[in-house]
Amino acid sequence: MTLSVGGVLAPPLDRAHGLRRGEVSHALRGLRKLVPELLARGASAGFLQLPRRRAGLAAVEAEARYWRRRGVDDVIHIGIGGSSLGAETLMRALAHPQHNALPAERRRAPRVHFVDNVDGASLSALLDWIDLERSCVHVVSKSGGTVETAAGFQIVQGAFGRAGVDWRRHTVLTTGEGALRKLGESEAVRMLEFPADIGGRFSALSPSGLLTPAIAGVDVAGVIAGARRFANRAARSSASENPALVAAAIAWLFDTEKNKPIHVLMPYADALEPLSRWYVQLAGESLGKLRGVGAQRKSVGPTPLPARGTTDQHSQVQLFVEGPADKLVMFVTPLADRRRVPIPALAPAAYLRGVALGELMRAEQAGTEIALARAGRPSLNWEIPEIATETLGELLIAFQLMTAAQAELYGVDAYDQPGVEAGKVAAFALIGREGYQEERAAIERGRPPLWKI
Ligand code: PA5
Repeated sequence: MTLSVGGVLAPPLDRAHGLRRGEVSHALRGLRKLVPELLARGASAGFLQLPRRRAGLAAVEAEARYWRRRGVDDVIHIGIGGSSLGAETLMRALAHPQHNALPAERRRAPRVHFVDNVDGASLSALLDWIDLERSCVHVVSKSGGTVETAAGFQIVQGAFGRAGVDWRRHTVLTTGEGALRKLGESEAVRMLEFPADIGGRFSALSPSGLLTPAIAGVDVAGVIAGARRFANRAARSSASENPALVAAAIAWLFDTEKNKPIHVLMPYADALEPLSRWYVQLAGESLGKLRGVGAQRKSVGPTPLPARGTTDQHSQVQLFVEGPADKLVMFVTPLADRRRVPIPALAPAAYLRGVALGELMRAEQAGTEIALARAGRPSLNWEIPEIATETLGELLIAFQLMTAAQAELYGVDAYDQPGVEAGKVAAFALIGREGYQEERAAIERGRPPLWKI
């Protein structure tokens, strides 16, 4: 994996819209100790140590073998935010693009369904047809108390009851110390450990992100091998040779010095579309914070924006090239294809003779980069050899380190989410949960004036 950053430099960009190498080097000074600290520190920052912990991977592989031996046809993954997006990213990137639609003899692994919302239409549509007798439910919640996950799990448990199937024999929980662990213990349900020093959005390389893809046949050991390679490289190299730290310094400088707070992640591959949603959650929840105390409090953080090449060239790219100059575009470009798909080059597009879809894709990515540069807009490019297990591991850990490094530069805690907690408390009050009466009263008092058209 290579980070190509020539597209952020001034010159050729105007000083107001580009960076000098010296500015990046200066910002990197603040990150010199970060990697050794992350490798030593426990608390909530264990993500960089994760690929080195062999026991976690072994537990995932053993659990996946168990469910595959049981011969289940479907896996229902219930979780939200970081407890769902990592697994979804790995599934979409590394399983067959039509995994669920393949006939069983070609798939040779269960289908996978993600329940990451409290939308009754989606969940009941799934429960309408799924054979629970031949299903595995993987519930992921670090806290064990997330209401959306609890609601989804309860509905699925109810469906098991109606079908006369014992949900306990069909469930595995990945959870930390909390209500879900207590339930698992009292009902003798299979469980994996959600590592105590990893937060949800940093958990893609733990059982939270790995187990569901592993049951579906994804080589998760390969993912971890790639992540370990990146973590080892990070441990050995200086800040200026570490792509995650350089990308963090660049992103932070554009936000704080160049008035470019919108950071677009634009992979050029359908298989990497969930990666951009995963990154948006990681950066949004880790960096969008109130820094400081009292009168010194200040809201900081970039606004991450997902996009997909080439599709968004016919949507958002017009805005990126000619709209407000408030964006840094970060491409992710696979340099080779898993499958070469030549274009027949029939009339009226005979000029496509000899071109394959992947070559067209890369030409379009380069075209967008050139259009941005000509308009004086910065971009950088994460180039990966191809979409494969090891490159996914590298990408996931690189983006996590990039996020932790930006948090260091902004001076915020990457691992908490007080803004999310506030919304949860308000929702509990509104559904009338015991113990939230005061919050309910405060909400009633503070309601905005009514204005409905
Ligand atoms: O990234 C995070 O920390 C959050 O998005 C959590 O993953 C999400 O809130 C779900 O939390 P939990 O795993 O405790 O159910």
